[in-house]
Amino acid sequence: MNISILGAGYVGLVTGTCLANMNHDVICIDVNKKKVESINKGIAPIYEIGLSELLAKNKNRIIATTNPSNIKKTDITFICLGTPSKKNRNIDLSNIKQGAIDIGKIIKQKDWHVVIIKSTILPGTTKDFIIPILEKNSGKKAGRDFGVAMNPEFLKEGKAIQDFLNPDRIVIGTEDDKTKKILKKLYENFRCPKVFTGFSEAEMIKYASNAFLATKISFINEIGNFCKKLDIDTYKIADGMGYDKRIERAFLNSGIGWGGSCFPKDIKALITMANKYDEKLKILENVVKVNDLQPLKIVEILKKHFPSIKGKNIGVLGLSFKKDTDDIRESRAIPVIKKLLQEKAIIKVYDPKAMDNFKKIFPQINYSNINNILNSDAILILTDWDEFRKLNYKGKLIIDGRRLEEAKQGIYEGICW
Ligand code: UGA
Repeated sequence: MNISILGAGYVGLVTGTCLANMNHDVICIDVNKKKVESINKGIAPIYEIGLSELLAKNKNRIIATTNPSNIKKTDITFICLGTPSKKNRNIDLSNIKQGAIDIGKIIKQKDWHVVIIKSTILPGTTKDFIIPILEKNSGKKAGRDFGVAMNPEFLKEGKAIQDFLNPDRIVIGTEDDKTKKILKKLYENFRCPKVFTGFSEAEMIKYASNAFLATKISFINEIGNFCKKLDIDTYKIADGMGYDKRIERAFLNSGIGWGGSCFPKDIKALITMANKYDEKLKILENVVKVNDLQPLKIVEILKKHFPSIKGKNIGVLGLSFKKDTDDIRESRAIPVIKKLLQEKAIIKVYDPKAMDNFKKIFPQINYSNINNILNSDAILILTDWDEFRKLNYKGKLIIDGRRLEEAKQGIYEGICW
């Protein structure tokens, strides 16, 4: 099929590259010229495992451009535009609005086109916001003159290609049969369950899934904080619980809490939306509260070792919100560094991929090489990059927020174990 992808961020580019690898012809459209040039050279503009290789392999089936009029050369357009948080905890739909206007104007000149929304949008957005813009700008009727589907993504950064190629399920929210058939065909080679729903159900499945995963993590962190006081190893508790199929071990790794571009933004948006409907999401409000306090636990533990950390050399390993990504959005390293700065510690940090991004918000700290970090009064592990496993921690004071077994050779304390 001929496919256009609006927005070449990690969701759009991974989706486009994987579809190209399935022999579809793909056009990625993005406002960022540098990104477009990089994709056309076959180089991934973001760090995502396996993406550069897959992009280079499919170079002849994927092109990038800044010009949305290229949508007309395709049969299907995926909307993969960002929906960042606004200050009032709502999500910002301005990118989606512009994308829908561009697509609408092109649909006007075409017989049939399918619009598939992959961006994370609150329940009701496809029906009440996107479809009216598409209809207004095309003068056509959704479901009759063009197709619409809400097809949320469940891609973890760092494992996005693997998740795209081996999904647990594919959710397709659509309300017309022709679109349903086209999506069935597009995903026919995927062996996983396919869940067909309406638009709003598909939108809510995405939010509820992210909210539930974040709840699992905050839950095990709360249990972990308590276990630590009882001298119980939380990871053994998670293993013991995880064998129960109703619980499942994944996302029960306790540590410094969840960050990233998705969980924090999505959960806050869902809580804010529910408030407008006079529904208080009490569990989720507390899931966020537990997560806000969790990274500061590591500084509390540090202060058990040094009542004052003023002037102490503190080495930090890991700045990205998790390993295998250069993304620092809502990284738990941010509140930790803020607190260390407040307490006037001397801070040295190292991360294999995220230092350039981190420098933009904390230019005043020392960005070091990995070995130099070991010459500190204490070392905090905030991301479990594999290369941190090879260090010689013997004799060093380590406070671990991520459960790095190898660091146990040092004078070691875990955040909740
Ligand atoms: C998350 C979801 O896992 C994806 O399914 C979803 O598609 C994506 O958001 C999205 O909405 O786009 P992602 O944010 O890339 O993916 O990262 P996760 O692997 O889910 O990790 C989120 C945070 O939770 C990280 O800070 C990670 O370190 C933390 N985490 C994860 C834990 O603290 N413990 C765990 O057991 C698992």
